[in-house]
Amino acid sequence: MQIPEGFMLGAASSAWQTEGWHGKKAGQDSYLDDWFKHEYFVWHEGKGPDVATDFMTRYSEDVALMKEIGLSHYRTSINWSRFFTDYENLVVDEDYADHVNNVINALISANVEPMIAIEHYEVPQFLIDKYDGWNSKRVVDLFVGYAKILFERYGDRVHQWFTFNEPIVPQTRIHLDGLRYPHDLNPKKWMQCNYNKVLATALTVQAFRSSSQSGRIGIIHNWEFAYPRATNNQLDVLAAKRFDLLYNRVFTDPLIKGDYSPELIKLLSDNHILFNSTDEELALIKANTIDVIGLNLYFPKRVKTPEHQWDPSAPFNPRKYYSDFELPGRKMNNSRGWEIYPPMMYDMAKVMRDDYNNFPWFISENGMGTENERRFKNSSGQIQDDYRINFISEHLWWLLKAVHEGANCEGYMLWAFTDNVSPMNAFKNRYGLVEIDLEDNLARHLKKSGLWYHELIETKQLNY
Ligand code: BG6
Repeated sequence: MQIPEGFMLGAASSAWQTEGWHGKKAGQDSYLDDWFKHEYFVWHEGKGPDVATDFMTRYSEDVALMKEIGLSHYRTSINWSRFFTDYENLVVDEDYADHVNNVINALISANVEPMIAIEHYEVPQFLIDKYDGWNSKRVVDLFVGYAKILFERYGDRVHQWFTFNEPIVPQTRIHLDGLRYPHDLNPKKWMQCNYNKVLATALTVQAFRSSSQSGRIGIIHNWEFAYPRATNNQLDVLAAKRFDLLYNRVFTDPLIKGDYSPELIKLLSDNHILFNSTDEELALIKANTIDVIGLNLYFPKRVKTPEHQWDPSAPFNPRKYYSDFELPGRKMNNSRGWEIYPPMMYDMAKVMRDDYNNFPWFISENGMGTENERRFKNSSGQIQDDYRINFISEHLWWLLKAVHEGANCEGYMLWAFTDNVSPMNAFKNRYGLVEIDLEDNLARHLKKSGLWYHELIETKQLNY
C-alpha cells in the first residue's frame, strides 16, 4: 500500500525514559524518580530512570541513528523536574536547558523534526509534596509558566508542542487503582487532576497563541478503545460508552470541542466526583481548544455489563460500570499481556471522523514490547524481530486504509526509537527499533525492524 506524501513516519520516546540521571541536581526528582527511590524493588530487575539509556550523554549517537533510519519526526518530552532549580520562581537549570537546546539542534541538523511534550509524567516531586501535585491549581499556574519559557527558548525551532503525554495515567494509577506510589486512593482527586490538566492545556494553548512563535499545539492522549462484548446487547454497549466517557472523552471533548458532555457531567455528579471549576475557567477552556491530537493506541479494551454487585460504600471506580471481557480466539502479545487487534486503527479513524468532525490527529504511539529479545539474535548479533515488523505492518495497513478513505490522520510515531525504561516494567519489554544492550555498556544496535523501517520510509510502500 502506498504511503501518502507528507505522511509523518517517526518514532517516540520521552525524556525520563531515556535520559538517566547524569548531571541531575539534588531536589530535581520527578514523581517517578521519587517512586523509584522508594520502591525500586518493584521495578523490573531494580532498574529505572537512573539507568535509562543515558541519552543525556549519548544523544548524538542516537540522533545519528535516527538519521540513518530516516525518521521524519522524533517525539519526546522535556523533563520539567530537571528544567528548574527552583520550580516556584522558575529559575532555569541552564545546564539542562543547554542539553535540551543541543538535542533540538542535533535533531534539526539531522533533518528530524522534534515534536515535544511539555510533560510526560515528569511532574516535580517537590510540587507534589508542597501542593499535592495536579490536584492543585497552583501547579496549573506553574506549569503554564514553565511552558511559556519553553516557547521563548525553543519555539523558533520547535513547531509542534503537546502539553501532556497521557495526562490521565499518573492519577489513575495513584488515585484510582492504587498501583503506584504513594497509593493514595481518592477518586475525587483523580477527577480533579484530570480537570486541572484540561485547564492547564487550555491556558498553555492561550499562552502559545499569544507568543510570537509559529506552529501548533495539542495533547497526546492514550485512547482506550472500548469494544462492547456484543453490539446488539444494550447493556454491553452502555458499559463501553461509560468507559469511553470516563477514560477518553473526559479529555477529548473539552479539548477538541470546548465542552464536557452533559452525560459525563451527570455521571460524575451522580458519583460525587465532579471536579471543582469556575465559569471563567470553563469559558477559557471553550475559547482555547487544541490544534491537533496525538493518540497512543496499543490494544483494545473489551468490556461487558458488570457481573459484580457494586458495594455502594466502596470508593468510586469506573469498574462499577463494566467487567472485562476476553474475546474468544484473540491474538495476544503475551509479553505484555495485551490483545493485538490492528483494525482498531481503522475504528479510531471513524471516531475522529464522526464524533470529532475529522479533527487532525496522528498515532503518537503504537508498538510491540517483547521480553527476552536477545533470544532472537542471529549469528551477527542482530535481533531478528519479525514479530515487530509484522505488528507495525498490520497496524499501519489499517491506518493507511483509513487515510486512503479520507481520514485526517497525519502520521505514525512508533513506540519506541530505542529500547527504554517504563514505569515498573523498566527494560522488561523491549520496544525499540534500536536495541540497548545492557550487557555491553548500553551499546546501540539496529534491530531488523530498524532496517525495515528505513526501507519503508525510503520507498513509501507498505508491503503487507
Ligand atoms: C505508553 C507511555 O503508555 O506506553 C509510555 O506513553 C510507555 O511511557 C508505553 O512506556 C509502553 O508501555 P509499557 O508499560 O509497556 O512500557
